[in-house]
Amino acid sequence: MKKLFLTAALTVATGTCAWAQGNVMSEAQDIFKPLPFGIPEITANPVSNEKITLGKTLFFDPRLSKSGLISCNTCHNLGMGGDDYQETSTGHGWQQGPRNSPTVYNAVYNLAQFWDGRAADLKEQAKGPVQASVEMNNTPESAIKTINSMPDYIRLFKQAFPDDESPVTFDNMAAAIEVFETTLTTPDSPFDKFLRGEKSALTVPQQKGLSLFMEQGCADCHGGVNMGGEDYFSFGVVERPATDVMGSDKGRFTVTQSTDDEYVFKAPSLRNINLTPPYFHSGKVWPLKEAISIMGSAQLGISLNSSDIDNIYDFLLTTTGVQPDVVYPVLPAATVNTPRPVL
Ligand code: HEC
Ligand code: HEC
Repeated sequence: MKKLFLTAALTVATGTCAWAQGNVMSEAQDIFKPLPFGIPEITANPVSNEKITLGKTLFFDPRLSKSGLISCNTCHNLGMGGDDYQETSTGHGWQQGPRNSPTVYNAVYNLAQFWDGRAADLKEQAKGPVQASVEMNNTPESAIKTINSMPDYIRLFKQAFPDDESPVTFDNMAAAIEVFETTLTTPDSPFDKFLRGEKSALTVPQQKGLSLFMEQGCADCHGGVNMGGEDYFSFGVVERPATDVMGSDKGRFTVTQSTDDEYVFKAPSLRNINLTPPYFHSGKVWPLKEAISIMGSAQLGISLNSSDIDNIYDFLLTTTGVQPDVVYPVLPAATVNTPRPVL
């Protein structure tokens, strides 16, 4: 009996070792997909180099804001993981917005935009911040007036939308920004290399973290190509997070008015996650390890021990990919007709 047990234990022990490692890779390949290289296609808004150039110029141009100080890059800093290192964003007149700024990197792979998914795509999304009073606090008319005041802009719009009779429109502004944003992807992380079959791309502790991430159920909501961004879930499926972390934001309820959607949020992408503290829609949690621990109790009803948290953390570091080489654009020169900043 004893002997039998020992043999069995030995078989399991040696077997587990060989089996587990091979299995982690194939299991992961079923759940996640590597970020593709190159620019993803988007429907109804074909990509062109001219649109990318225009979209990049607009993304960096603070004159789209009423104050002339705030650009998309202010809150989605491309040198800083694509967000702003603030709990919740600060916009026009130092007003504090209600939510943490999500990264624009890989946002093209999300099912919809914003924490509550209220914009269907990046083009619809881009019209929001220009007008939001706590963000850029401008109007479409005034943004277009600003653009039309600069001949260099008119030329860029004509080149980007050669078939349009009057190409300078708010809609085309958003379309160009959307196309630029499709270039903001971060492929070829160590995790992507692992998913493409390169086993040595992850260390053993990182593979252990990946295994835990899948076994414990994190991957159920943070799977796919973007490790999230594919669906909405209650924040606090099992256990309500602490009040300060949760806040009073009802999330997707504000979009659907359905009580089932109270405190429901889009599961964010976890790619490049160590570059974008603080965490959650409230931005109340700064250490990534604390965010991992909260997810364990809130979403899964488990209390992860510190070595599990360390391993998951080590694994999440491997999702940081190659950040795109974005050359800061020279912005069109203002003219006497360009609206002056209003603070
Ligand atoms: C004042 C800060 C601020 C400015 C300026 C700003 N954003 Fe945002 N952005 C945010 C915040 C905060 C959110 C999340 C809001 C929400 O979910 O309700 C957000 C959400 C987004 C998202 C959705 C990402 C996701 O995963 O859901 C995209 C894309 C985005 N912004 C792009 C832009 C673009 C393009 C511009 C310029 C036209 C811009 N933002 C200007 C703060 C800002
Ligand atoms: C039932 C779905 C679900 C499960 C399971 C889940 N998450 Fe989440 N995760 C979410 C949602 C939804 C949010 C956004 C919560 C919010 O801020 O309102 C989130 C947010 C996060 C964040 C913060 C991201 C950011 O950009 O602010 C991290 C980190 C995270 N999850 C990691 C994990 C880990 C690690 C596990 C496993 C221990 C896990 N999640 C399990 C749905 C889930």
